[in-house]
Amino acid sequence: MIGRAERLPVVILLSGRGTNLQAIIDEVRAGNLPIDIRAVISSNPEAAGLARARAAGLRTEIVDHRTYPTRAAFEQALIAAIDAHAPKLVTLAGFMRILGRDFIEHYRGRLINIHPSLLPQFPGLDTHARALAAGAKQHGASVHFVTPEVDAGPIIIQAALPVFPGDTPETLAERVLKEEHRILPLALRWFAEGRLTIRDGRVLLDGKPCPEQHLVGSASRD
Ligand code: GRF
Repeated sequence: MIGRAERLPVVILLSGRGTNLQAIIDEVRAGNLPIDIRAVISSNPEAAGLARARAAGLRTEIVDHRTYPTRAAFEQALIAAIDAHAPKLVTLAGFMRILGRDFIEHYRGRLINIHPSLLPQFPGLDTHARALAAGAKQHGASVHFVTPEVDAGPIIIQAALPVFPGDTPETLAERVLKEEHRILPLALRWFAEGRLTIRDGRVLLDGKPCPEQHLVGSASRD
């Protein structure tokens, strides 16, 4: 059993239902993820993810963007809330605010996001509908380091799956979400184990480009 002191201190930011948070909690409980979730911070007081965090005995905080006059003021408050927990990693798990350059630079190299597409395809919102409209044969999810360009930072791991005839945004979202729940905890584990480096804008695992980082999923029709 890994002691709490040896676990990587992590703060998780979310805005919504928190199924990715739940996947992380489950992996920590299963002994597969050596992190200490110091706090779960939501931009949205109504986020269902807050209840999941509380049910797991985690500290929760709310930094509601609507109560700050500017994005800069919101982000300063968010930085203060996060840094009070001295995290070595900050994870965006369904955090639905675009973050500014100052915030991102403050956490350079220790800010990770999950995005529901095979980046660089379909950055931004409504990824499943856009993949279908574009006639994509494959779709999936990406975990990446965050840089100031939205959804464009170095990719840690991706999971791909086939798009089936008759898929809707909802059926696709459901299958992609299962992959998200697999690859986000895995990326956090690699980070916590000190196995990730960034060289020339690319992520290396154990110092090498690793084929397993890409297209590892093949979720089929259940
Ligand atoms: C996920 O699809 C994630 O990729 C995106 O927002 C969604 C969050 O889902 N950034 P949940 O709140 O973790 O259930």
